[in-house]
Amino acid sequence: MTIERIESVTYGVEDVELCTRFMTDVGLEPVDAGRSGATFRTPVNQFVRILRADDASLPPRSSAGSNVREVAWGVGTQAALDALAAELGRDREVSVDAGGVVRTRDESGYGVALRLSDKVEAADPPRRTNQLGHVERRNEGVTPYGRARPLRIVHAAWDVLDAGHEQAQRFYLDRLRFRAIDTVRPMGTFMQCEGDIEHHNLLLCHRTNALGINHIAFEVHDIDEVVEGGNYMIAQGWKESRRLGRHNLGSNVFRMFQSPAGGRIEFASDMDRMDKDFVPRHWEKTPQHHLWMLKIPGDSEPH
Ligand SMILES: [Fe+2]
Repeated sequence: MTIERIESVTYGVEDVELCTRFMTDVGLEPVDAGRSGATFRTPVNQFVRILRADDASLPPRSSAGSNVREVAWGVGTQAALDALAAELGRDREVSVDAGGVVRTRDESGYGVALRLSDKVEAADPPRRTNQLGHVERRNEGVTPYGRARPLRIVHAAWDVLDAGHEQAQRFYLDRLRFRAIDTVRPMGTFMQCEGDIEHHNLLLCHRTNALGINHIAFEVHDIDEVVEGGNYMIAQGWKESRRLGRHNLGSNVFRMFQSPAGGRIEFASDMDRMDKDFVPRHWEKTPQHHLWMLKIPGDSEPH
């Protein structure tokens, strides 16, 4: 088993204080915060790091302004980590720091780190639900979440340039052993890392023909938490960038917000899991974006 999950996401930002407030409102647990940066942790021990954009420890920028500068992937064993580092070293500069973290850049220039996975199991059972003939909750009501408390960082979506997008994808597929679950020729490729069954841990999207992070997705428990987490964000003054819906590819319920740290963040729940029995799909035309999306009176076309 090789890459199992996203281990951390590191942003370089113009306004550390603003981005710290944003990530706190997203519901991440702050473990360290100061003028030069902040660190947040998920319940399964992944980290979101906020650093000043001019911090010398960051990989170079791929675009102006605040953005993700590095996604670190968690690898299952030291032997697998060593093998991946050796493979990457065949054609690009690779560094290894004192903590054993391997760093390089992908075909788009994005910072890629590989490190031993440091997973913690989250003991957080799902809410009990009721349906005719299927009763899990009896003699008790539902307690509102009030705000999101993400379970984990579930996927990263990078925008890549249209020119060379196939090489950009091949880097992850051929060199880092990701599996393409849905390849959408006009749009991008949804990829799963080898040690997970998530519909996608990584999306490389060339539809916008731009460089930079498109979004980082945080898994929450269920649709209630997607809605309530989004409502809380709006109450704190953050701007929604895509209203509530359920995707077609991946089936995840989503709600998205513009992030001052770069790109957007997504609250996601109930995503598809694809194991080795699933036959990857290829799409010549981009399929419908969503199965449904919240309609607002007077708004004929969901945004
Ligand atoms: Fe997403």
